[in-house]
Amino acid sequence: MAARPFLKWAGGKGQLLPALTSRMPTNFRRYHEPFLGGGALFFYLWNSGRLARGAVLSDDNPELVECYQAVRNSVEDLIGLLLDLRPRLGDKEFFYAIRDWDRHPDFRQRPLVERAARTIFLNRTCYNGLYRLNNKGLFNAPFGYYKNPLIVDVANMREASHALQSVDLHVGDFSGVLARAERYDFIYFDPPYVPVSATASFTAYTRQGFAEAEQRELSAVFHTLARRGCLVMLSNSFTDLARTLYLGQPVHESILASRKINCDGRKRGVIEELIVCSYALHRNGVTP
Ligand SMILES: C[S@@+](CC[C@H](N)C(=O)[O-])C[C@H]1O[C@@H](n2cnc3c(N)ncnc32)[C@H](O)[C@@H]1O
Repeated sequence: MAARPFLKWAGGKGQLLPALTSRMPTNFRRYHEPFLGGGALFFYLWNSGRLARGAVLSDDNPELVECYQAVRNSVEDLIGLLLDLRPRLGDKEFFYAIRDWDRHPDFRQRPLVERAARTIFLNRTCYNGLYRLNNKGLFNAPFGYYKNPLIVDVANMREASHALQSVDLHVGDFSGVLARAERYDFIYFDPPYVPVSATASFTAYTRQGFAEAEQRELSAVFHTLARRGCLVMLSNSFTDLARTLYLGQPVHESILASRKINCDGRKRGVIEELIVCSYALHRNGVTP
């Protein structure tokens, strides 16, 4: 059975996978995904047996990384906790009681697996699966009205745990990859996108947001890794800023993607996205 993302994450790359995988290097050493989110490309690579030399996954959202740690280290306990929550699905008061755990001073003292079960429960039952924090860093997405939300797909959770067994997980800013990546490692950057218009911005995955300064810093990190001989791939919106930051890279292409076009998840539109690679596609068959 193939492992799939166990979280619904904004910007999930599920439907962009064919465009990404057709531009991947054929051979590489370790795989790094520093904007992990739902980890769609990681699971794809694991299912295709391409991670024999290991993987390093990171994100600056500690609650997200804790979910991966719980799935890797304590999957049966996590499944048990989520199954215990099933009878409370649709109970709005219970949702807000669990959501408010992070308002209590002892929140960080709770076992990691309990905090992870809370995050997964909220991810599956809050409005639109939105991960949103207020300016105090407290989770504040509202209750979502679902007929029958699936909070745990037991078989997939076990498979995801299997996929994560030998993976290094880190909480931290994307620049941490500079200390870890070596020549011939493959790095996929999927940052919060440059907004296509002033109102389209969705960069509130974490409290800090991701503005032009971070986009510029990311392009500097991309170029440093490329000079080091790493194989770097990045996706972003097809905007003037993003295009300019990566001009001159061997692959700099626009592809068509179907995306939500407003807050109504049912309405989708086709938009252009940017893919950049630091290696030429006909020369990427290096044998490191
Ligand atoms: C577009 S999502 C990644 C989606 C992912 N590729 C998937 O398939 O689900 C961007 C991720 O970047 C993380 N992030 C935002 N700012 C960051 C930063 N400065 N350093 C590292 N991660 C960051 C967010 O927490 C979020 O999970």
